[in-house]
Amino acid sequence: MILGVGHYVPDHVVTNHDLSQLMDTSHDWIVERTGIEERRHVVLGGGDTTASMGYRASLLALKNAGVSAEELDFIIFATLSPDYYFPGPGVQLQEMLAPDHTIGALDIRNQCSGFVYAISVADQFIRTGMYRRILVVGSELHSAGLDMTTRGRNVSVIFGDGAGAVVVGIAEEEGKEEGKEAGGTGLGMSKVLSTHLHSEGRHARELAVISPSTQHWVSHILKENNPNDESYYPYMNGNFVFKHAITRFAEVINEALRANGVSSGDLKLMIPHQANLRISQYIQQKMGLRDEQVYNNIMRYGNTTAASIPIALSEAVAEGRLQRGDLLMLAAFGSGFTWASALIRW
Ligand code: COA
Repeated sequence: MILGVGHYVPDHVVTNHDLSQLMDTSHDWIVERTGIEERRHVVLGGGDTTASMGYRASLLALKNAGVSAEELDFIIFATLSPDYYFPGPGVQLQEMLAPDHTIGALDIRNQCSGFVYAISVADQFIRTGMYRRILVVGSELHSAGLDMTTRGRNVSVIFGDGAGAVVVGIAEEEGKEEGKEAGGTGLGMSKVLSTHLHSEGRHARELAVISPSTQHWVSHILKENNPNDESYYPYMNGNFVFKHAITRFAEVINEALRANGVSSGDLKLMIPHQANLRISQYIQQKMGLRDEQVYNNIMRYGNTTAASIPIALSEAVAEGRLQRGDLLMLAAFGSGFTWASALIRW
């Protein structure tokens, strides 16, 4: 089960109007196409990094769970914007949390689906009884890597910075009670009912940052010294991504419903990855969900990729939108393409 949640976003608010000072765009265009009104950007040099934002969200999730960093068995960190090319931020977080508590730290590279993939991995470790307390983090620092000129406007208006974290594990009482019911030790019980993971690599370059890469490494880049090279910026074929997103979101949500013999009417809440408000609204309509069954906060944060679902979950919990026993659907689609869902009994 999810024992605790937390999130952190940088203080610096960037409105659509602010962006229109940097590039040829407008508040109306951005709101009409994406629903986004503002997003948060870190102030470079101000101390926020992908790992440090993940750390701040993690502290809140641990506090919310009543679990200390020394009680964790494992860390899973999902991001597409790590502080370093390698190592990934999982080890940075391990050091920040408890440097002498040398638990494993795994980095997940599944972009917008990263958090749901991470929940799935955590759930498997819990189910086998290998671990009892796992910290799952999604954190992104997009702003430093965006092309903030008119050339990059179809991408740069969409993405924002932030982090969310959850502690996945077994509550002491729950482990005992359910273990007895199941005639076992109590280990291995989980309230993650099922997870469903997919990928289709043939579309990898439709939403990607392709440099630096093994085929275009730093030595080449320095030699070329080409200020017009756009390959270090995210490329997105927006229409193509949109069409695939609405199909795959619906498929993977239905897959989770079918696997558990429930219908969309049984869901208390669905938290879709906050890709674009228009995508969420389309899915809501297609699945026949009421407004109160779908949580959206992209208006305030933009698309924070692997962080979007845990930030939204943290806010939804703080607003009292979930009670014990409620059915929660998480669903995501993004670069890869990858897509995934998780059905959780809260
Ligand atoms: N401001 C103003 N105009 C912009 C703009 C911006 N920020 N970005 C693009 N435009 C322009 C284009 O240049 C184009 O102009 P043209 O007609 O003169 O060539 C016009 O707006 C339409 O561009 P298009 O890309 O067709 O717009 P769209 O309606 O498809 O909306 C997206 C663009 C990116 C908002 C939309 O495709 C989308 O949301 N896609 C999915 C994105 C997503 O979810 N990504 C994350 C997946 S995890």
